[in-house]
Amino acid sequence: MTLRARKTQEVTTYQPQYGAARIFFLLTVIVLICVLCFIHIVEFQKKENLTIIPPRVVPKKHHDVCTVQPLSPKEDLEEKLLLESIAWPETPPLPTPLSMNETSYPAKSTFTILPQTGGGQWHVGDKLKVLIKMCDFQGHSKKSGGDVLFARLHNPTLGAGVAGKVEDHLNGSYSAVFSLLWEGSAWVEVTLVHPSEAVTVLRRLNSEQPDRVIFQSLFYSGSISETTICNVFLRSTEQPLCNYTDLHTGEPWFCFKPKNLNCDTRINHSKREVKQNLKANEEKLFQLGVNMKVSIPASGPASVTVLPRQKGQAVVNSSNMESGPSGYYYKDEWQTLSGAKVQQLNTPSAITQCLKGKVVHLYGDSTIRQWFEYFNGALPDLKEFDLHSHKQNGLFMAMDIPNNILMTFRCHGPPFRCHPVPISELRYIANELDNVIGGTNTVVIFGIWAHFGSYPMEVYIRRLQSIRRAVIRLLNRSPGTVVIIRTANPKALPSRVSLVNSDWYSLQNDKVLRAIFKGLNVHLVDAWEMVLAHHLPHNLHPQPPIIKNMINVLLSYICPIKSG
Ligand SMILES: *[C@@H]1O[C@H](CO)[C@@H](O)[C@H](O)[C@H]1NC(C)=O
Ligand SMILES: *[C@@H]1O[C@H](CO)[C@@H](O)[C@H](O)[C@H]1NC(C)=O
Ligand SMILES: *[C@@H]1O[C@H](CO)[C@@H](O)[C@H](O)[C@H]1NC(C)=O
Ligand SMILES: *[C@@H]1O[C@H](CO)[C@@H](O)[C@H](O)[C@H]1NC(C)=O
Ligand SMILES: *[C@@H]1O[C@H](CO)[C@@H](O)[C@H](O)[C@H]1NC(C)=O
Repeated sequence: MTLRARKTQEVTTYQPQYGAARIFFLLTVIVLICVLCFIHIVEFQKKENLTIIPPRVVPKKHHDVCTVQPLSPKEDLEEKLLLESIAWPETPPLPTPLSMNETSYPAKSTFTILPQTGGGQWHVGDKLKVLIKMCDFQGHSKKSGGDVLFARLHNPTLGAGVAGKVEDHLNGSYSAVFSLLWEGSAWVEVTLVHPSEAVTVLRRLNSEQPDRVIFQSLFYSGSISETTICNVFLRSTEQPLCNYTDLHTGEPWFCFKPKNLNCDTRINHSKREVKQNLKANEEKLFQLGVNMKVSIPASGPASVTVLPRQKGQAVVNSSNMESGPSGYYYKDEWQTLSGAKVQQLNTPSAITQCLKGKVVHLYGDSTIRQWFEYFNGALPDLKEFDLHSHKQNGLFMAMDIPNNILMTFRCHGPPFRCHPVPISELRYIANELDNVIGGTNTVVIFGIWAHFGSYPMEVYIRRLQSIRRAVIRLLNRSPGTVVIIRTANPKALPSRVSLVNSDWYSLQNDKVLRAIFKGLNVHLVDAWEMVLAHHLPHNLHPQPPIIKNMINVLLSYICPIKSG
């Protein structure tokens, strides 16, 4: 306790000096308050030796000292409900010593296509159901749920594909449901992304090592320079902190204070390294091709033949199918089942025509940067300024003067994992949105997900809530503004990446993102399904054919096809 008290005291050392008696009094109060605070932290973290400052820690009466800006009661309740809604099933505790024998093993597991109800044939508009039975390395049926499974239905010759919906029966069996959307053959593909035992590890890492992606800042003044470690949470040490919590959004961020420089001399921000500790043998739960991202074999036929739609058969779309797919590929082109009909703008002049007179602001991580790069490459009249910024960080700015198009890209604020970015360029999306005038000629696009996997979900929820507040303010002052959000997507999982960037983290984040922006006048580009349904391998940065489809969805929101 005293250790934490001393630290908190030091945080305030660049405040005006106090007399000794006042310091003693202050210290006593702080110790008392922080005892309360610490109890909350332990509760939240379930881990004793981590002194962290999680954003949710809001002791009811003393939020002036121990917390970052408290959430509103409404957002606090929303957070609770969100966490409940994404609760993942219990996953098995790991035996010690850890043996793979009883862990989920895709090669011994199977899926079976269930017969059509009534024994008939399948038609376009029907649903196809598949039963998945998980077994362990020894071939025994699993008795609990929690495995991470993806399912896809596809036809390579037709360039067709659609994501399936997986349901966990919590007893070792799962079902996957697909919408049948094209005539001809449809092949089922079921992939084990992670065995449930790996989820046990992923969960533990985020609660015990939320600081395992380590950031740093360079501090500089005159001839002195120092580099210190920074994060949303910092482990308790004797070292004083610099508090860079954003005053406007309340987003927490801390660095250790440099020894010989003050907190105002921070120059830049970058990712330093990843340090994570697994227990003995746990890495065996993350073996690519063995128990991570591996197809599960079919116990019988793996495909069905789909006949033309029957008369009177309801059209499958998201409004009449609870959590059905948002779209599917046909002839390698993405078709949506809800929202705007997809434009196929295949020439630079068609795209330019759509963007004519518009200001397009892109914010977020490298998956949004890809879109800026796409436009910049595809439109010869869009000229990029050389702002001498790092080619992965931005700021980027491009203009097509004759057509009056302005396009910008800016990375999101910390915890942005990046090459050194000057502090002045490190901005929270919510703050940027507050600086946008908006209107019918303004398009605001953001995507923020890939750098949050290693934190407790509360950090991501809080970030999205602050962005949502800014979106609501923007749409209130300029209702015609087009706001488009890119969702997360599945990616390749080399073993080290899987622990900080697992698809399980992304999947959970993605559910939260959709829930938080539900009901607002914003549009989603469903990158999740667009990558899952496509035949190209999962990649953090989806390959050009997928990007091309995303751009078409994006442009369909900016320039909707006039119905009539
Ligand atoms: C950091 O600064 C924020 C905003 O001024 C404040 O609310 C919070 O209590 C500070 N945190 C610490 C640990 O000093
Ligand atoms: C795992 O299974 C193998 C073969 O069935 C057996 O020899 C071994 O003892 C088992 N290991 C554990 C820890 O149960
Ligand atoms: C698992 O649960 C599902 C749904 O409740 C049920 O249909 C199935 O028979 C169960 N499987 C086993 C092996 O108990
Ligand atoms: C979805 O289907 C319903 C009934 O089948 C139909 O009335 C509605 O227009 C469809 N919506 C879209 C977006 O196609
Ligand atoms: C940013 O930080 C790195 C070290 O992290 C340093 O090498 C680089 O010179 C800094 N850049 C600027 C513009 O200060």
